[in-house]
Amino acid sequence: MGTARLSLLFAAAAIAAAVAVSLFMVWREGPAGGGSGVALIGGDFRMVDHTGRTVTGDDFAGRYRLVYFGFTYCPDVCPTELQNMTVALDQLGPLADRIVPIFVTVDPVRDDVATMAAYVEHFHPSFVGLTGSVEQVAATARTFRVYYAKVGDDPDAYLMDHSSYVYLMDRDGVYVTHFTPNTPPEQMAERIRRTIAS
Ligand code: NI
Repeated sequence: MGTARLSLLFAAAAIAAAVAVSLFMVWREGPAGGGSGVALIGGDFRMVDHTGRTVTGDDFAGRYRLVYFGFTYCPDVCPTELQNMTVALDQLGPLADRIVPIFVTVDPVRDDVATMAAYVEHFHPSFVGLTGSVEQVAATARTFRVYYAKVGDDPDAYLMDHSSYVYLMDRDGVYVTHFTPNTPPEQMAERIRRTIAS
């Protein structure tokens, strides 16, 4: 590899790093750059749960929420995170009654009510699956600043690229914190325990 080629590579890496940092800052601070990021994640929503009932944020009032966005056809990332959430709730024992784990699909075309119902059964019994129209999903994902995009054109075999954070929201639906992918369930449970105790 020549020197010119190498410096081009370094330049590209530097640009990628700068873009990553600025995206993170936007996510943290909000587009205006001011205020805390806290109020900017989450908000009210209107979706359809896995029993076919229309639900809004008010339906979860008074309970903490652990929210994850993904899709049922996801080969590994989503099931892993949903399993981590399940283990964390199991570790919380009776405290888990105060938390609603919520799985929001970013693939409403395939993830209809029946598909969501069959899927959430694989995880913690208190899981609520949320789907809805393409617009409802887009609106909810936007409030949580969740990125997702369809990958591939095969109507049966496409994948969804998506951000993979577990959001902890308080009893009013206000953002508390989030967990990055592969956060150990013990750590998740500990943070939830602290939040409930505070
Ligand atoms: Ni996934």
